[in-house]
Amino acid sequence: MTATICGTGSYIPSYTMDNNDIARLVETSDEWIRERTGVIRRHIVKEETTVSMAAEASRRALEDAGMAPKEVDLILVSTISSNVILPCAACEVQKELGAVNATCFDLSAACTGFVLAYNTAAAYLAGGVYRTALVIGSESLSNLTNWKDRGTCILFGDGAGAAVLKADDTRKAALPVTHSDGGKGAALTCKSRHDFSGLADAGQSDPETMLDDEHYMQMDGQAVFKFAVKRVPEVIGEVLKLNQTGTEEIAYYILHQANKRIVEAVAKRLGEPMEKFPMNLQEYGNTSSASIPILLDEMNRDGRLKPGQKLVMAGFGAGLTWGAALVEWQR
Ligand code: UT7
Repeated sequence: MTATICGTGSYIPSYTMDNNDIARLVETSDEWIRERTGVIRRHIVKEETTVSMAAEASRRALEDAGMAPKEVDLILVSTISSNVILPCAACEVQKELGAVNATCFDLSAACTGFVLAYNTAAAYLAGGVYRTALVIGSESLSNLTNWKDRGTCILFGDGAGAAVLKADDTRKAALPVTHSDGGKGAALTCKSRHDFSGLADAGQSDPETMLDDEHYMQMDGQAVFKFAVKRVPEVIGEVLKLNQTGTEEIAYYILHQANKRIVEAVAKRLGEPMEKFPMNLQEYGNTSSASIPILLDEMNRDGRLKPGQKLVMAGFGAGLTWGAALVEWQR
């Protein structure tokens, strides 16, 4: 038994900031950002929240799947930037959708989050625990971005993507490969805004005035870059070997959209043509756990995905975490 993706959806905020807008905030240029990252613009929340984007992406995915909210057994939201802590984002999405029969929880694994959420849902479905699942990646990274730090604010954007999964009794499950290395976590951090240890004793009580650089994303860009270009091709190789699949069988590698140069380096190391590596980071920037489902939805809707195609989804990022999943497109 395995899981099949039977619908996708996404939601992108309409407000955009292009590279020239960023150059008005920090010392950088459109040329530098395009050359070093491939990003041209990013979409930023105004009225939207992580939950509202997740709910809208989910509505679109359910519509695409032809499934009613009441048919969903499991809702999993991958996010590091939820506007709510309690209840969890997935329960809020359940309420918005009226998906009254679903079990709901969130998962936090940064840019590997969607791959891990997909694996988690697929394992529940393959194990016969649930029959249908809604897997969502939703991020409002602009709220965690230090808009004075040119090393990070050039990269990130906001958005949400969702996929509907259903159990498929006719095919065998493909196994994923995932890794974590907490020992290297210092490369990409963001301290919780609820951890003001020590400051309360100093007589400070207003969280807004207590935010410092550690409460925004901080990144050793070069360390993360080197990690990604080494580990992503490796884990793709592992997942292909584990499932006895050759690169010639793969139609597309759907990578986390972090940096154009990372995607190009992965393609080169795998010896695979760039046509197999779709990219949309030029339009959205790095949307962390939303990037893979947004790209998947684009490809589903513009007809690039065809039944029987094999896809590899690969995520990597803070933790450090990385992983890959083999997907057979059956929609
Ligand atoms: O989602 C998963 C996690 N994130 C990632 O995967 C991101 C991985 N890292 C990267 O994408 C890249 O490391 C960055 C885009 C963040 C930075 O690019 P880089 O090529 O690694 O730049 P760098 O940090 O090595 O800096 C090169 C030069 C430096 O100047 P000098 O020392 O050579 O004079 C920097 O000070 O570029 C300078 N620089 C900038 N210049 C203009 C750094 N950031 C900027 C900037 N604009 N925004």
